[in-house]
Amino acid sequence: GGAALAKDIHKDIVNVSHRGASAYAPEHTIASYDMGEKLHGDYIEIDLQMTKDGHLIAMHDVTLDRTTNGTGSVKDYTLNEIKQLDAGSWFNEKYPYASKAEYEGLKVPTLEEVFKKFGKNNSYYIETKSPDVYPGMEKELLRLVDKYKINKEKLLVQSFSSQSLKVMNELDPSIKLVQLISYKANAEITEAEIKEIKQYAMGIGPNHTYLNEEYVQKVVNSGLELHPYTVNDKERMKQLINWGVTGMFTNHPDLLHDVKKGR
Ligand code: G3P
Ligand code: CA
Repeated sequence: GGAALAKDIHKDIVNVSHRGASAYAPEHTIASYDMGEKLHGDYIEIDLQMTKDGHLIAMHDVTLDRTTNGTGSVKDYTLNEIKQLDAGSWFNEKYPYASKAEYEGLKVPTLEEVFKKFGKNNSYYIETKSPDVYPGMEKELLRLVDKYKINKEKLLVQSFSSQSLKVMNELDPSIKLVQLISYKANAEITEAEIKEIKQYAMGIGPNHTYLNEEYVQKVVNSGLELHPYTVNDKERMKQLINWGVTGMFTNHPDLLHDVKKGR
């Protein structure tokens, strides 16, 4: 019947732990990625920055200030210097109700460490952040994907930069790509834009705020995946699923898991 069908569809909604389960643990730490798995996230979302000595690290901002006790640009520090920093205490201070003593002193992980810890058959959703600041980051990402024999079927690479995605596509056409978009007002997309994106990407990741059913239907009917970010309440999750999205980014993978279970 209809209810069973709806349930089957919901089962396939991709649950992306945004910066890990970042509502519950400091974003982009191993603790946060662990929590994402525990709370039924399908993918671990990882934002990449690059150190002065060329290591890819998991961090959202180009600067250290918000998520560590350091200051200044990531690109001006070596990995060894960044490894001295505390990437957990800020979370305890900012979110006392979610704080845990074990978050104090957590380290910034490298992408290499994440691959080692979570393995080649995990599902990673990796964003090249500020590729203009870090020439060569796509090549280094691919080097590590190959070094750790990451299962490319389960890997997605995302970026706001179509340039960065096109570089990825040129270097390795087998990598699946998602074009991120940030809408500032009512989301609209033309058939020409969809066609252009389909030349290199298999999906679109828009901010969810300004989406509407027509947009969702248009993108999904074109054959592209549609993974809005960052959706943190169950009513909005349900609405987006009813409109037809194929997955979403959330700081609360447990809530999306509940919604998928019909709870
Ligand atoms: O990657 C999806 C979403 O995370 C994009 O925004 O700023 O959180 O990386 P941001
Ligand atoms: Ca991101």
